[in-house]
Amino acid sequence: MWKPPERIKFFSTHGASPTRPQAQESRLFSPLQMGPMSLRHRTWVPAMVPWRSNEDGLVTEDVIQWYARFAQGQPGAIVIEATGIRDVPSGPLLRINDDRYIDGLRRLTQAVHQASGGHTRLLIQLIDFLRIRRRPEPQVFFERHLTLTPTLLERAGLTGMPAEQARQALLEQGPERWQAVLDERDWQSLQFGAREHVNDLELAHIRELPAELPELFAQAAVRARAASFDGIELHYAHAYTMASFLSATNKRSDGYGGSREARVRLPLEVYQKVRQAVGTDFAVGCRFLTEECIEGGTTLDDSRWYATQFARAGMDFVSTSRGGKFDDAKQPGIGQAAYPYTGRSGYECMPQYLSDAQGPFGRNRKASADIRQTLRQAGLNTPVVSTGGVHNFEMAESMLAAQDCDVVGTARQSLADPDWALKTWLGMGDQVRLCEYTNYCEGLDQKHKQVTCQLWDRLDLDEPGVRMSLDGKRRLIAPPWQAAQTQPGAVPDEQAAQTTLT
Ligand SMILES: Cc1cc2nc3c(=O)[nH]c(=O)nc-3n(C[C@H](O)[C@H](O)[C@H](O)COP(=O)(O)O)c2cc1C
Ligand code: SF4
Repeated sequence: MWKPPERIKFFSTHGASPTRPQAQESRLFSPLQMGPMSLRHRTWVPAMVPWRSNEDGLVTEDVIQWYARFAQGQPGAIVIEATGIRDVPSGPLLRINDDRYIDGLRRLTQAVHQASGGHTRLLIQLIDFLRIRRRPEPQVFFERHLTLTPTLLERAGLTGMPAEQARQALLEQGPERWQAVLDERDWQSLQFGAREHVNDLELAHIRELPAELPELFAQAAVRARAASFDGIELHYAHAYTMASFLSATNKRSDGYGGSREARVRLPLEVYQKVRQAVGTDFAVGCRFLTEECIEGGTTLDDSRWYATQFARAGMDFVSTSRGGKFDDAKQPGIGQAAYPYTGRSGYECMPQYLSDAQGPFGRNRKASADIRQTLRQAGLNTPVVSTGGVHNFEMAESMLAAQDCDVVGTARQSLADPDWALKTWLGMGDQVRLCEYTNYCEGLDQKHKQVTCQLWDRLDLDEPGVRMSLDGKRRLIAPPWQAAQTQPGAVPDEQAAQTTLT
């Protein structure tokens, strides 16, 4: 992963932990109405892909246990990982493109509602993504992937040569010549693996995206509702299709690209179709970027305007992230796919403890505050969820006190300690296991390995019933919090029986 050259080390701290009465009086643990969905508290676990599904994208026992473990910590809401809305094999990513997924997803919603004692609201993030190939061996690229055009053959001095011979001759010309003769797109495909882009209007299925996607998202939303989710989050962030429509790099000439009015058109059409399909008594919002953090990418100026459009259209919340783009991703090894969190924009999305002077903590706070302020000035009360480097009560509470956001998202902190909100609410914030922002979890995600946290994945491996990762080395979910048993009196009696937030 890219790291800022300054490499200043930042260490997480507990900050000022509240007593139990202080926590109960706090903003963080106060309720919030999000359209039809009521949150008991303003803690939020944003979407994180844990690679727990199977090749069919079904809900497995590991998926259920993973989310039930987060639910035991009783956050205000959990957003289930990016879940595919199309019938394309996507490895162990969850899918929701067919009614056959509803039963498994219903078991998941039941497990979360039960594990949280009914306190946690459950949303699912709906994603569409375009095709990306692994970086090819040059031989495979020249023999099979490259389209030979007269212009290319002329540039390579191979005009008139039979195709097979020309391919071999090109391969033998070597990297320097390849860069000179291949067009920019082919050179990129050779270097990084071919990647489709919303600008590829020459491809029928890319041209058809605006006609196709609203219905696909709407059907997925209907299934989410049937599976008893409390709402959905449309994935309009990072490196995927809908974010690519919003991106300043979207140059489509069909009315869906170019100006920001045209770029927001499909995201709004998707939302409208979804809303028509699920009605107004089901929460619908989106996750989008405050800034793309790439050269020539969207800036706060665009995202403030987008937020206003989403809110006016009637979204029940907007959740912000930043960066996470393919455009500046590192070159993958041969046989590997590019990963959108390896460049500077990836750093902005999941900042690490080795940082610049700004540091990783609250890295998206100012931009989210800007978005919220713009909404309020426009008379729009849509709640804003802000995420990025938040790991203690003091930070979260100060963000709410400053009215920088309405809900605080904690992704890696919740992974490091799924009980962090519960511990804090009980006045036991000093027992929170703090995320160290090492990005070990993200490294696993990059390799499509089951995601765990290095702070707990080797603990208590001999505990009965521990489920282990496929590599046989790591436990798959965080150990249970033992406070009630190990520290008599630490949790008052009535909570020891059932530690629950009210
Ligand atoms: C393992 C992992 C998987 C992630 N998967 C998703 C995802 O499916 N959808 C999404 O919008 N963000 C995803 N993210 C980004 C997080 O939701 C969050 O925005 C990011 O980690 C920064 O927040 P944090 O500092 O609280 O961790 C993922 C992050 C991690 C660490
Ligand atoms: S592995 Fe654990 S400590 Fe490291 S960044 Fe991920 S959640 Fe935080």
